Amino acid sequence: MSSLFDLHGRTALITGSTRGLGFSYAQGLAEAGAAVILNGTDAGRLDEAVGRLLASDHQACGFVFDVADEASVEAMFATLDRQGVQVDIVINNAGIQHRQPLLELPLTNWQRVLDVNLTSAFIVGRAAARRMVARGSGGKIINIGSLTSEAARATVAPYTAAKGGIKMLTKAMAAEWAEHGIQCNAIGPGYIHTEMNAALTSNAEFDAWVKASNPTRRWGRPDELIGTAVYLSSRASDYVSGQIIYVDGGWLATL
Ligand SMILES: NC(=O)c1ccc[n+]([C@@H]2O[C@H](COP(=O)([O-])OP(=O)(O)OC[C@H]3O[C@@H](n4cnc5c(N)ncnc54)[C@H](OP(=O)(O)O)[C@@H]3O)[C@@H](O)[C@H]2O)c1
Repeated sequence: MSSLFDLHGRTALITGSTRGLGFSYAQGLAEAGAAVILNGTDAGRLDEAVGRLLASDHQACGFVFDVADEASVEAMFATLDRQGVQVDIVINNAGIQHRQPLLELPLTNWQRVLDVNLTSAFIVGRAAARRMVARGSGGKIINIGSLTSEAARATVAPYTAAKGGIKMLTKAMAAEWAEHGIQCNAIGPGYIHTEMNAALTSNAEFDAWVKASNPTRRWGRPDELIGTAVYLSSRASDYVSGQIIYVDGGWLATL
């Protein structure tokens, strides 16, 4: 059974993995045997994250780039090509939040959230899939959605539009790439304790709303996403494509 989930011999790129959920995915995939490539925009944080994994005897390296910058993404893949590194698994995790009512939202803020949360998955996913198709080796692409892939909440319109788009981009990728042995799926985390949510976890009213709305009555932890990430990265999910799996403590299942 464990060989179904074994990732030895696989290389995984996890975007936005210097902290939060991305680091947790990287750690989980590394523990399952994968060599992991980390990414972020802050070189110091990236070095520290790579160092933590190397200190645990995992195979890890990192690249600083902005996932929304096509030229930087292509340059990283070109470097990996020169090094003979093949990316078998991609987790399109990098994301940002911007809270502002729609009536006051400038176009630049809308566009940046769409670029980092949605367009990046196209840019990175396309670069990886082109190589997977050319090699004929298949692969795994995992995009990161959210509860807002299904339902809206006031003041986070661009994030909601981006995460809704992630759900449908995942299906579009599956429609075109499944025949090449590339499974494309998404994970939709519920509310998880990370830096992105620092302002929310420390807000007593919001904290109470999360606990009241969610049948588990608590926030999720980053390590609780690892099982789903390893499953979608592994042979265990070879006939699963175009799906979004919500890891939300049952939130979306309840009224
Ligand atoms: N936490 C939750 O409750 C929750 C719920 C649903 C979905 N999600 C999704 O899960 C993902 C991770 O969330 P998180 O809470 O772990 O966020 P986080 O703690 O804010 O971490 C974000 C990560 O993304 C990197 N990043 C940000 N912008 C980037 C860019 N333009 N290019 C490359 N890397 C970038 C950051 O690194 P640098 O600082 O170095 O740039 C950091 O490593 C996001 O897609 C988020 O929307 C989170």
